[in-house]
Amino acid sequence: MKKTLAVGLSSTLQKTIVFPGFALDTVNRATEYLMDASGKAVNAARVLNQLEEGSVTCLSPLGEDNARLFLDLAARDDLTVDWVSVPGRTRYCYTCVDPAVGSTTELVVDEPVDRGEAAAAGFARATEELLAKAGRHIPGVDALLFAGSRPKAWPEETAARICKLAKDAGKTVMADFHGRDLAFTLERCVPDVIKINEREFCSTFGYPYPLGVDELRGRIAEKSAEYANAIVITRGSKDTYAGYLGLAFTHPVNPVKAVNATGCGDSFTAGFLHSWLAERDMEAALAKGSWCATRNALNLRCGSIRDPND
Ligand SMILES: Nc1ncnc2c1ncn2[C@@H]1O[C@H](COP(=O)(O)OP(=O)(O)OP(=O)(O)O)[C@@H](O)[C@H]1O
Ligand SMILES: [Mg+2]
Repeated sequence: MKKTLAVGLSSTLQKTIVFPGFALDTVNRATEYLMDASGKAVNAARVLNQLEEGSVTCLSPLGEDNARLFLDLAARDDLTVDWVSVPGRTRYCYTCVDPAVGSTTELVVDEPVDRGEAAAAGFARATEELLAKAGRHIPGVDALLFAGSRPKAWPEETAARICKLAKDAGKTVMADFHGRDLAFTLERCVPDVIKINEREFCSTFGYPYPLGVDELRGRIAEKSAEYANAIVITRGSKDTYAGYLGLAFTHPVNPVKAVNATGCGDSFTAGFLHSWLAERDMEAALAKGSWCATRNALNLRCGSIRDPND
């Protein structure tokens, strides 16, 4: 069994709430809700664990005020989580699903940045602890997945440093983050696989959004030649484009009416990585990623490919 260490800085407590006939300016009563340990790396880890139990360990920073709740929720998914305590609370996200109209509204409630000296010292300590823990896990895994955005309290080189630890140890590194953090990482070490969406690709590499499809496919292939790696660009319900060592790939997406598309990108990442580690075949990995993403879209739960009725 290939093993992955999944690291992300944006740990989340995710409430997915069903509101039939959701409306502004009135009282909305939920008919059901789910609560999950979440964040991009954790969503991907849950799917990896569903594909092959025991194939993943999460390394997550958790707010000291509600770490126990996150760990209890993760334990219900049999997720192995190593964690680092950070000042304050882990953030909440709310996904409001209205099955009557098929809408999904995401509310991301970031915690305020504490600019006090104690919080700064807490995050400085947590950064070094995270690096040290990553360093201890990396020898025992085949791959590092680093996914998700960076709350401002973390130093901007955090992702780059953790990716470099894994690259220097000869592990496969997959990145699902973008912008300055990805550019910064690429200057220090090149992830073997970059999986981001179309808008993130254009903004990271300075292209206008959207590019025409032919130019987009060309640019992805070009970048994968420049970095000698694999670059996978998902586009929601539109075809997925990828480049591998300069070769262009297209994978068709069969659009479905999503129950909840939140976490589709993370589910894609999990499926892609699981296949890539097994056989390093781009067509097969794109197919597995798409399969997981579609299963997730049909599931109310965010970052899950299980049968919705389970
Ligand atoms: N309506 C849909 N029907 C079928 N597949 C879908 C649908 N929406 C998303 N997907 C699948 O999910 C994959 C990832 O979606 P998307 O490009 O929106 O990811 P993302 O922007 O990274 O999402 P995330 O918010 O999870 O980071 C797509 O490539 C596709 O395979
Ligand atoms: Mg994404």
